[in-house]
Amino acid sequence: MSKAQAAKFISLEGIEGVGKSTNMDYLASLLTKYKKDFIRTREPGGTHIAEAIRHILLQTKDEVLLPKTEILLLYAGRYQHVNHVIKPALENNQWVLCDRFLDATLAYQGGGRQQPLASILQLNDWVLGDFKPNYTIILDAPVEVALTRIQKRKNLDRFEKEDISFFTRIRNQYLALAEREPDRFRIVDASQNLHAVHEQLASIMHEIMQTE
Ligand code: TMP
Repeated sequence: MSKAQAAKFISLEGIEGVGKSTNMDYLASLLTKYKKDFIRTREPGGTHIAEAIRHILLQTKDEVLLPKTEILLLYAGRYQHVNHVIKPALENNQWVLCDRFLDATLAYQGGGRQQPLASILQLNDWVLGDFKPNYTIILDAPVEVALTRIQKRKNLDRFEKEDISFFTRIRNQYLALAEREPDRFRIVDASQNLHAVHEQLASIMHEIMQTE
C-alpha cells in the first residue's frame, strides 16, 4: 500500500494587483477537490496578535514606520503565526495555504525598501531556522499591468501608495529568489486571463499531489 502523502505548506506571493485573493480562492477549491484537510491563512496576520501587528503595518499615520521597525514587526507576527498556527496544523496533518510568507519580506523589504538581504536572512535564521514553505507560487505580471488593476481601489494602504520603481524592485527580487530555489518556487504568468491562470495553477497542484 502506498504511504499517505504528508501535509504540505504552500505560500502564494506576488506584487499588488496580480490577483492573489481570487487565486487563493481557486487554490483552496483545488485542495478541496483533492480532498485535503487544510487551513487557509495570511501574512502579515494569522493570529490575534499578528493581525494587530498587520494593522500597524498597513496604517498610514504621520509617525514614519522605519524600515527596520517594519522588518521586526513582520518577524514578530511571523513567529506567532508559525508557532501558534502553521506548525500545529502541519503536525495535525493539515495542509497550509498561506497568502504571503517569508519571501514577501525578502522581496518587499529587501527589494522594495532596499534593506540588506543578508540581515533579513540572519533574522530569519534566528526566528525560523530552516522552516519554510514546501512550495511557493509566484503570480507574476509586468508591474504596469498589475498596477493598473489596483488604480481603481479606494483607500490605498501604506504599501499600495508606493511608486512603480518600488514594485519593479519587488518583482525583480521575487524572480531572483525563484531562480535561486527552483525546487520550491513555481512561477505563474498572471498577465494572462483568469482561465489561463487557473490552468497553470491546476497543473502545479497536480504536480504537487504526485509528491510524497
Ligand atoms: P496583502 O495586501 O497581500 O494582504 O499584504 C499586505 C501588504 O504587506 C502588502 O503590500 C505586502 C506587504 N508585506 C510586506 O511588505 N512584507 C511582508 O513580509 C509581508 C508578509 C507583506
